[in-house]
Amino acid sequence: MGKRFYITTPIYYPSAKPHMGHAYSSIIADFFARFKRIDGFNVSFLTGTDEHGLKIQRAAEKKNIEVLEFCNEISKTFRDLSKTLNLTNTDFIRTTEDRHKKSVQFLWNKLKENDEIYLSKYSGWYSVSDEAFYNNDEIEEIDGEKKVISSKSSVEWVDEESYFFRLSKWEKPLLDFYKKNPDFILPESRKNEVISFVKSGLKDLSVSRKSFSWGIKVPDDDQHVIYVWLDALTNYLSALNYPNLKDDLFKNFWPASIHLIGKDILRFHAVYWPAFLLAANIELPKKVYGHGWILSGEEKMSKSKGNILDPIKIIDEYGLDPLRYYLIKEVSFGNDGNISQERLEDCINSDLANNFGNLCQRVTAFVDKNCEGKIPENILFEKDDLKILNRYSDNLEVIRNNIDKQNINFYVDFIINSLFEANKYFNDQEPWKKKENQLRLNSIIFTTLEIIRKICYLLYPIIPDSSLKALKIFNIRENQIDLSSIANHNFLNKGNDIKKIDILFKKIIKEND
Ligand code: ME8
Ligand code: MG
Repeated sequence: MGKRFYITTPIYYPSAKPHMGHAYSSIIADFFARFKRIDGFNVSFLTGTDEHGLKIQRAAEKKNIEVLEFCNEISKTFRDLSKTLNLTNTDFIRTTEDRHKKSVQFLWNKLKENDEIYLSKYSGWYSVSDEAFYNNDEIEEIDGEKKVISSKSSVEWVDEESYFFRLSKWEKPLLDFYKKNPDFILPESRKNEVISFVKSGLKDLSVSRKSFSWGIKVPDDDQHVIYVWLDALTNYLSALNYPNLKDDLFKNFWPASIHLIGKDILRFHAVYWPAFLLAANIELPKKVYGHGWILSGEEKMSKSKGNILDPIKIIDEYGLDPLRYYLIKEVSFGNDGNISQERLEDCINSDLANNFGNLCQRVTAFVDKNCEGKIPENILFEKDDLKILNRYSDNLEVIRNNIDKQNINFYVDFIINSLFEANKYFNDQEPWKKKENQLRLNSIIFTTLEIIRKICYLLYPIIPDSSLKALKIFNIRENQIDLSSIANHNFLNKGNDIKKIDILFKKIIKEND
């Protein structure tokens, strides 16, 4: 079945409608999925909603709606957002689905059989907002209220019978695994945080709750529901039809190539999840990447803080591709980033409308007038042409390697430089002065068209609709985009008609212009 790539986003809590932070993770995941697809990989791309636990139960109670009905409603807004964002996810999983419940209970039984789970009692802090247990030293008191130091969320005291997972036993194996697989946790800075957390000592983890019922029941003990994180993390397997190990999906796509998440949930993915998998003798995912946060002012944008920016509103105002481009370019991947409408407008005007859109317009208009609207047939590459063309063949492997390291910043810079050079080449070569030398004029135009094609391919994972619109110039369709052909400088069919296209991006008139 060839090369495979399995990428996942977090499954989001449908406690409130999605915001820009969720859109961000999903768009980045889609970027990688699309890149891998045009690079010949068979891609599985999973997203969905995480619907059990006290957080959701309480959110529904607050609205006076039956919990499942509440989940149905909000989960749908996440599913709709996937469509609005033009995501190419191959599945959308909900943890309230039967396929998922079966899978979680199977994993539970397996852990139980392996003597990884035992019954005891939990007394300690719990944050409903984070759905997480915390040690005393992770809590501080602010204005008489106990809060988690890292997430600032409130905690409550829990005292109840609970099943425990023998997490402590996996401390050493986890540390060994991190050492042997230096790319398992990225970015590097976050890896060190995880390692020091594990080194500081792991206590057994409470993996069931008894004081509420909104969850997947513990097999053979229906007084307990399974801890929502053990439930949720299993989605990455249940979407592949685990435990049906002979299923094609599971055989082809497990272990996951990358779990893309925000840094807020790194501990669950880089410590608990691999420990559960080790304990169940299941192969570990290849990588967990914890990206930074979209901030609102100084703070993380979040549902519980209410400081959110609605992606739908931005898309209605500016269009989807500008938002995708902006998020991928401006939030330096791995770090936190503030977003501003001002910068978004700058991106649209300078990068998208001027450097990309305008180039496409100019060149096609020129071809229309000077090359009978056809891709020139008679050409002879000169040194200048080859110099700019060779950048793509020379860098194809470099681009792939950077993508495999999630170095999105490199990728975006490569495109921006490509656009700059393409415009410069076209201006410097002055084809409008070469009308008495048709061979030279043809060669300049052919070179520029080849470069536009290559840039469109590279832009496709970022701004798919606009890239496809531009590729109509050459009559190239989505399923024909093949990344490796950016190394081919004679790809375009000589003599074929060039199609004129509509304006790709409208410039934003700014108030102070
Ligand atoms: O944690 N900036 O769900 P969640 C960037 N259900 N990304 C952000 C963000 C922000 N301000 N806010 C949210 C959960 N995100 C669990 C996950 S996975 C098995 C279970 C993104 O609704 C980011 O990916 O709180 C973050 O990790 C995720 O949404 C948290 O979504
Ligand atoms: Mg959250």
